[in-house]
Amino acid sequence: MASLFIDSIRKNYGPTSVLRGVSLSIADGEFLTLLGPSGCGKSTLLRILAGLEVQDAGSISIGGRTVDELRPKRRDVAMVFQSYALYPHMTVASNMALPLRMRRLSAIQRLPLLGRLLPGTARIAAEVDIEVTRTANSLGIGHLLARKPVQLSGGQRQRVAVARAMVRHPAVFLMDEPLSNLDAKLRVQMRAEIKELHQRLGCTFVYVTHDQAEAMTLSDRVAVMLDGQLLQVAAPQDIYADPADRRVAEFIGSPKINMLDCVVRERGSIDVAGSTLAIDAEVLPGVPLTLGIRPEALHPADHGGQGALTGSVLSIEHMGSDLFVHLDLAGVDDPLIVRLPADRASHIAPGQTLHVGVRPDRVLLFGRDGQRLRREVESGRASVTPIREIAR
Ligand SMILES: Nc1ncnc2c1ncn2[C@@H]1O[C@H](COP(=O)(O)OP(=O)(O)OP(=O)(O)O)[C@@H](O)[C@H]1O
Ligand SMILES: [Mg+2]
Repeated sequence: MASLFIDSIRKNYGPTSVLRGVSLSIADGEFLTLLGPSGCGKSTLLRILAGLEVQDAGSISIGGRTVDELRPKRRDVAMVFQSYALYPHMTVASNMALPLRMRRLSAIQRLPLLGRLLPGTARIAAEVDIEVTRTANSLGIGHLLARKPVQLSGGQRQRVAVARAMVRHPAVFLMDEPLSNLDAKLRVQMRAEIKELHQRLGCTFVYVTHDQAEAMTLSDRVAVMLDGQLLQVAAPQDIYADPADRRVAEFIGSPKINMLDCVVRERGSIDVAGSTLAIDAEVLPGVPLTLGIRPEALHPADHGGQGALTGSVLSIEHMGSDLFVHLDLAGVDDPLIVRLPADRASHIAPGQTLHVGVRPDRVLLFGRDGQRLRREVESGRASVTPIREIAR
């Protein structure tokens, strides 16, 4: 087990700056997920941690030891790749044994014929076999040891890749989108297995994904990455409810958070989409801001005007227990999305005018630079006061 310390890592490929000063401290035993869109630099950072790629600047420590000069196999990390990277000509047992054989046997001992005759080889090989079998059994793949990768399902290959990482008892697991080649149902099942594995082993996991559901369900903390920089590192619920930056708010959550241009009218009220909301921005009147509100923080109101938004229903998406109402607000380009429990929305139909109340405590305000404006309500002093109770 080990903590991990990433200090100001930079990496360029030619003129392209892929990592632009990434710093992150990961606790011993923590499950940390790097979450970000395709191409933001997640795999590059993971490969630098593993020692498969060299950074241009910055430093990595694992378990209090600087590892910048260490080769991958001396870093005490194991990596599970998206492609699984299993050797197709080898059996599951041989694939799993390989990292142990590489570590425990000398180059001569690994020679196919001569190696077997050398003293100690047989004993070490037997120990490796025992460890491979034990690990395979613990992941429920003991019966597959004699098969080749081509004879396995996607889920089984994924388990073999994890098992191969596990046999070495690494201090840190690095996993690069290990579930992305699986179908949706299997992905959910394997997600639970990875979580269980982390709890059982208790070692540090750094997990890369662009799937926010994976990040939110697996992680102790999520590091949101964009364009080679970390925008926010926090617990999943804080990333969702308390984003530091507009880009984080927009990347997390499905359907996306609603973003509306607004202007501070006076202390305690904001003009947005033809309505006035009782929200204290603590910004001078006339300052343009962006108001973010998640679809579930909106609900039908009795009438429009102060405290509620009014629009015309464009369409309704039925999702089973919930539905998403798309609302056209005057002067706003994108439809406002409202998430409602299906049993409370049976009266809503396309073309109809709908008033929706806004939960002031769920409003997120962003400056035009994208930075979140912190409001006093978050420091315990409730400066957000509804003009009137919003009809439920
Ligand atoms: N060896 C390389 N040479 C040149 N450019 C590279 C190299 N490896 C990665 N890149 C570029 O660096 C950027 C980051 O790549 P990286 O693989 O780290 O992204 P990622 O976040 O893992 O994306 P994905 O989710 O698609 O896997 C991309 O623009 C990619 O094209
Ligand atoms: Mg990648």
